[in-house]
Amino acid sequence: MYEFKIEAADKAELYRQLIEAADALTAGEPDAIANMANISALLWEGLPDLNWAGFYRNVGGELVLGPFQGKAACIRIPFGKGVCGTAAQTRQVQCIEDVHAFPGHIACDSASASELVVPIVHQGQLLGVLDLDSPSPARFDEEDVRGCVALIEKIASRLA
Ligand code: SME
Repeated sequence: MYEFKIEAADKAELYRQLIEAADALTAGEPDAIANMANISALLWEGLPDLNWAGFYRNVGGELVLGPFQGKAACIRIPFGKGVCGTAAQTRQVQCIEDVHAFPGHIACDSASASELVVPIVHQGQLLGVLDLDSPSPARFDEEDVRGCVALIEKIASRLA
């Protein structure tokens, strides 16, 4: 139904296209779960070398598994626990080169080697986090951080 041709010569262009597609996919749709589902599918298809892409939602001060692509994952993560819980508690992006060296990392999929978690904040409220996992160590760099933060900023109001 939706066809996005994400063909990018470099990462900056890849994220420009992903952000444009994410904006188009969520425009006018108020349902946060539907939008998270489509964004996780878009990122899964558009970003190379991932083994998990999806969302955890802030439900009453606890992260609860939301729409995702990849293997079945842990359902509830307390704030402050693991990479996702740390991103939720601190509201800081977590770009982890080696998840096995991260204290308290929660291994949902043993294939995961590196991880990028972006907190989703809208009107001062933490809505949840975007979580990307890769089987390659140090898969995510500054450009991925910038690109994912920009993507989340663009669509945060549609994830509320
Ligand atoms: N590894 C994460 C848990 C979520 S899964 O990777 C999908 C963490 O430590 O927060």
